[in-house]
Parts: sequence; structure tokens; C-alpha cells
Amino acid sequence: MGHVIESQQFSRTLLEDLFARSEEMKGEPHRFVGRLAGQVMAALFYEPSTRTRLSFEAAMLRLGGTTMGTDNAREFSSASKGETLEDTIRIVSGYADVIVLRHNEEGAARRAAAVSTVPIINAGDGPGQHPTQALLDLYTIRDELGRIDTVRVAMVGDLANGRTVRSLTYLLSKFKEIKFWFVAPPQVAMHDDLKTHLDEHQLPWVETQDLDAVLPEVDVVYMTRIQKERFTDPETYNAVKGVYRIDRRSMALMRKYAILMHPLPRVDEIAPEVDEDPRAAYFRQARNGLHVRMALLDRLLS
Ligand code: CP
Repeated sequence: MGHVIESQQFSRTLLEDLFARSEEMKGEPHRFVGRLAGQVMAALFYEPSTRTRLSFEAAMLRLGGTTMGTDNAREFSSASKGETLEDTIRIVSGYADVIVLRHNEEGAARRAAAVSTVPIINAGDGPGQHPTQALLDLYTIRDELGRIDTVRVAMVGDLANGRTVRSLTYLLSKFKEIKFWFVAPPQVAMHDDLKTHLDEHQLPWVETQDLDAVLPEVDVVYMTRIQKERFTDPETYNAVKGVYRIDRRSMALMRKYAILMHPLPRVDEIAPEVDEDPRAAYFRQARNGLHVRMALLDRLLS
């Protein structure tokens, strides 16, 4: 692994190695203290973040490395003076051993990788991909259900703008007998490139707007936020906002051993009353991000 740009680059063997390492880091964290001593991670975030930024920082610090970076890089870095992303990356790759980049433009991580002398980790590029979120999502499915092969997954919400659903769908397509339900209003339906990809891998998918009908069918409900910041037209946003909401009534429709996931942040698509349900996995999912990102940094830098 040189750069981490998109989910397609992960083989099943690499995923299994990373997950085994993540499990070790979760179970025996003391074994890994100091492993990345002397190494520096730069976090360049051109879009807001809580989980990705802080879990990457915590991962690096727990492995003995150090971190630096900038939030709101569009305003607080020399991007505000007109510096290109490429020039910023050329400079920062001279200071750091790895760069974690979140950017508002799809393709930004690939552009950064083309000029960087150190590994670039795509921490979300506009509506493109968010591969490390997909890694922790897949790890969570494996951890919660005990398997990945044969899972039945509903992706719900803003599937057109949601980079996490794109990255997770690509990762899941590496496993056997996965079935997908894409539950979204037509304005934010899953793009055709993903559906074609699944067809090429002979993995069945269903497109529907009827969430209640899908809930009893699946092992994983992957809920997502309608991404207000990606809409140029407020009318389109207003037409789809709040379209799906998981509450106690919806949980009653789900299977006993199914799980409810969400990359977070949530707005109103999961009622707080659901948090106490043992099938609500989203806070455990976010916590898994720490160990998966520790394993990834260890793999890139050890
Ligand atoms: N899931 C996710 O990417 O969260 P943040 O935007 O808080 O990093």
C-alpha cells in the first residue's frame, strides 16, 4: 500500500490482515505503544470533521507518533491565498511521514497522491469516496455479525452524495453472496456506476423507496444523512430532507440480530430513543475507527 485513495484498491487478503491487526490493537493496545515513535502525521482538512480527524490523531498518538495539521484548511491554510492543493501537498510531504486529507472536491486525494512523496490517506473527497470509513464499517459488520459473506445490506438515505456508501459498497463487493437494497428517493438514488460494478460482480441489488418493506429482510441497515452541503438547489434538498427516520417503530420491524449502522454525524434520521437498543451499532462503529486507523497507519509506516 502506497496511498489509500479508494476502496477498490483493497484485496480481500489485505482486508483480512488489517482486521486481524485491528483486533490485536483493540484487545492488547499496550503491545503497540511507541511503534510509530518519531513519525509525524499531517492532517489537512478542507471540510469539517469530528470522527475522522480525531480518530486518526488518537491513532497516531496511541502508536507513539505525533500529529500536526489544519482544520478548515480552505480558510486557515495558504489555500486562502490561492495556493493549489498540489503545491500544498508538495510542501507538507516534506514535513510529514503521512498526510491525511479531507477535501471538498472529488478526485482531490488522487491529485494529492500524484505529487506527494509520502503516503496520502483519503479521508473523504467531496461526494467521491471515504475508504477508511468503509474499512471501519466493514470491520464493524464482521465484529457484530461474525461474518461478511452472505450479509444482506440496506443502504438508506442520500446515496448520490454519500461517499461512505460508495466506498462500503465497493468493499462489500469483494465478498460472497452479498445482497444490496438501495433505499433512497429518486433525487438522491445510487449512481449507475456502482450498480454496474455490482452487476459485473454478479451481486444482486434492489432499488426501492419503501424502507419499511426492506427492514425485515436485512442483516445491516446502513443509514445516512441527507447531505445538505452537497445540494446547490435548496428546493431539491427540502424535497428529500427528513424522508427516512428510524425510530422504535422501525426497530420493531428489523430482525432480532440485525444491526443499525450510521457513519455519523446524524441529523434527524435516527431518533435518539433508538440509541439504547442493542442493535444500534453506530457508537461502537465510530469507536472501531480508532483501532482500524491504528492498524492502517501501522501498515503504512512500520
Ligand atoms: N463519519 C465521518 O466521516 O465523520 P466526520 O465527518 O465527523 O469525520
